[in-house]
Amino acid sequence: MSKLSLTKDQYLELEKIGLGAFAPLDGFMTEGAFKSVVADMRLPAGEPFPIPIVLDIDEEQARQIGNGSTLDLCYDGTEVGSISVESVYTCDKESTAEAVYGTTDLAHPGVARFKRMGDWFIGGRIEFKQKVSFEFSDYELTPKETRSEFARRGWRKIVGFQTRNVPHRAHEHLQRTALDLVDGLFIQPLVGKKKAGDYTPEAILTGYRALIAQFYLQDRVMLGVLSTSMRYAGPREAVFHAIVRRNYGCTHFIVGRDHAGVGNYYAKYAAHELARSFAGELGIEVMCLHGPYHCTICDGIVTEHTCPHADDPSVVQSISGTDIRAILLDGKEPNPDLMRPEIVECVRGVPLFIEEDE
Ligand code: ADX
Repeated sequence: MSKLSLTKDQYLELEKIGLGAFAPLDGFMTEGAFKSVVADMRLPAGEPFPIPIVLDIDEEQARQIGNGSTLDLCYDGTEVGSISVESVYTCDKESTAEAVYGTTDLAHPGVARFKRMGDWFIGGRIEFKQKVSFEFSDYELTPKETRSEFARRGWRKIVGFQTRNVPHRAHEHLQRTALDLVDGLFIQPLVGKKKAGDYTPEAILTGYRALIAQFYLQDRVMLGVLSTSMRYAGPREAVFHAIVRRNYGCTHFIVGRDHAGVGNYYAKYAAHELARSFAGELGIEVMCLHGPYHCTICDGIVTEHTCPHADDPSVVQSISGTDIRAILLDGKEPNPDLMRPEIVECVRGVPLFIEEDE
């Protein structure tokens, strides 16, 4: 076998490795790297890396691919790269899911996707030859391009913001809090595979365009996208997101409440704890920020660090993305203290939610 056809998701992983977005990776993980990442959240040389990046195949393909061979990698009939095969391996999916996602529950979308993948993997250095264009490619800069754009703007301290939501007031509060301390804010919504019920990329980008145009300083904020799948791996994914944004040239990264979480699988601030355990090693400063809420006495968006009424439910309104999604899905208007009406008005014109797991 000398050729392997990639799915879109596999192509995007290849592209990200090839462009340096997943540095220090220079290929898909070999068995040694995979085991080390799953068990210790580190590559064999010791660098932090909490999410396995694998190229999955089925058993029949595994039988035909030999160590030491080179495979051409194709997407949609075009040769997009190659891999020098160093390792063909399998793993125990139950214990891997437990380690990476903290659960083996198939109701967890990251676990379900991992279990649907092929049962074998090939690892080895890749060569990336050809970029493919997708719907949102015009918004997506490479790590080299974002770095040079930050330099052109004269930004030395840049905070990255990961999101898969139309912005609500808690997101805005986190962004403004961070932006006060740095030169620029790079909002980089994730536009890869997501689960049913998540916002569409169109809705997220439309919401952000409205927020930036009407409420932010144009020369202090930049909007991009990151085409990679959501893994819903909570704390591990928060650290992974920070590493990726470091590779795009950010010096700081925001981690709020239940970052990259889903359901009730992760404690609200477990991602803060994990990020702190890697302090000084990530090459990017993680800003661990607490959950903003609306307080009628303080008359604005505050946090338990700035408002003394956190324990009084009659004045505190929490800002839950899940609740706001449900209100929008019903066609109702969210409370303007929780989501700006200007944003709601703009996103009403586009498809709001992904209908099926991608
Ligand atoms: S995700 O990748 O973390 O799932 P999401 O859009 O939900 O994306 O959140 C983006 C960032 O805002 C994350 O750092 C998350 O922790 C933070 N965040 C979202 N909602 C809140 C909230 N209500 N309070 C505090 N932080 C929040």
